Amino acid sequence: MFSKLLGMFGPKPVLVKGAGKLAEGESKRVAIGDPLADGVEVILGRVDGQLCALDRHCPHEGGRLIDGPLAEGRYMVCPLHNYKFDPRNGRAVGVTCPDATTYKVRERDGDAELFV
Ligand code: FES
Repeated sequence: MFSKLLGMFGPKPVLVKGAGKLAEGESKRVAIGDPLADGVEVILGRVDGQLCALDRHCPHEGGRLIDGPLAEGRYMVCPLHNYKFDPRNGRAVGVTCPDATTYKVRERDGDAELFV
């Protein structure tokens, strides 16, 4: 029922195979479509057991968030000026900066459905 409603009023999910197995404090980069055209790049990460997704585009000055181990086990980082973002809500940590774009993500049988 819920997924039918999402399909009617929002983006359709993109399946990311194996993403549900991402360990706590880790992240990985996922490209949906061609990032040079109208595709997006997303960083998936797990914090407090929850799988989260941020757009890779940094809202500060257009850098790119990096994947791999999360800073302090919980923050995604843009290496251009080392700003940290909370993957659960996209908020910058300790600096004044617009929020990073978040995406809904749902785990299913070891995979993830990403709503971009
Ligand atoms: S551009 Fe990302 S921290 Fe400045």
